Amino acid sequence: KPRFFTGLQPTGTLTLGNYCGAIQPILALQEDYEVIIMIADLHALTVPKKDFDYSQKSQEIVALLYACAPFVTISELNNMIQYKEKKKEQETGNLALLAYPVLQAADIFLYDSDLIIVGQDQKQHLELATDIAQKFNNFYEKELLKIPEFTIPNLGAKIMGLKDPTKKMSKSENDYIGLLEASEVVKEKFKKAKTDKIREVEKEMNKLNYSQFKEKVAEIVNEKLTLIQKNYNIYLPKISEILKKNNEYLKSLAEKKITIIKRELKLNYGKS
Ligand code: TYM
Repeated sequence: KPRFFTGLQPTGTLTLGNYCGAIQPILALQEDYEVIIMIADLHALTVPKKDFDYSQKSQEIVALLYACAPFVTISELNNMIQYKEKKKEQETGNLALLAYPVLQAADIFLYDSDLIIVGQDQKQHLELATDIAQKFNNFYEKELLKIPEFTIPNLGAKIMGLKDPTKKMSKSENDYIGLLEASEVVKEKFKKAKTDKIREVEKEMNKLNYSQFKEKVAEIVNEKLTLIQKNYNIYLPKISEILKKNNEYLKSLAEKKITIIKRELKLNYGKS
């Protein structure tokens, strides 16, 4: 099977934005692709938060991913690479933030991925990754890094905030619908949400006024979230075990690729 890859930072809870831009488009691919989803924990450290439990948040996210796609078998083919080294908050600083897209490029090429799906906000990073690979391959006159196909979904690639509809919905700003939020909270958030000026809604919504429209949207979102939350509670207790398996599998893939690259770059001294 061709290999699909993407990443999510464990910086907060997953939002409706993450769901529409990154998770939902992946669900349809599972039959045809080997799906790898990385929890980008090192990436999260580029904007360090003290007293933030990245491990706990990572587990929550993995359980949520399984909950969004409960028909995935608990197979080795799904992912999580756990970067064990966690730098102390003070040591990260600006260099890490500056180098972030390079770290992201490394994730992509380490697994020889065939397809990547991300939301609109990641487009520039993926273009940079492509540039890096092209230069690297040209220099070594060999296709050492495989350049995957990049896709941004047609729908949902940029879900906006609720209080500020000019900004994207983000887990680090407190302006999101979280996938684990209670129906009442979600309802209230939609009720208070600012609507933008474009009236581009489906025909059947045309006859509704703004407040009826928001109520309807909240209802539809809540229906989906209730289902995801039910599955989430089933997966959560099994997550450590799942991560262990996935980690082993992905480590073996990564080591294979690194070995090949090191051999090509004549960095394989002391190895057969
Ligand atoms: P992150 O954790 O910020 O977001 C995870 C995914 O969700 C998408 N997304 C959105 N889509 C639509 N509307 C929104 N409001 C919205 N907010 C977020 C993001 O585009 C992303 O697809 N750098 C990445 C993580 C990463 C990665 C990678 C991705 C690390 N290595 C390698 C792909 C390949 C990030 O910060 O995503």
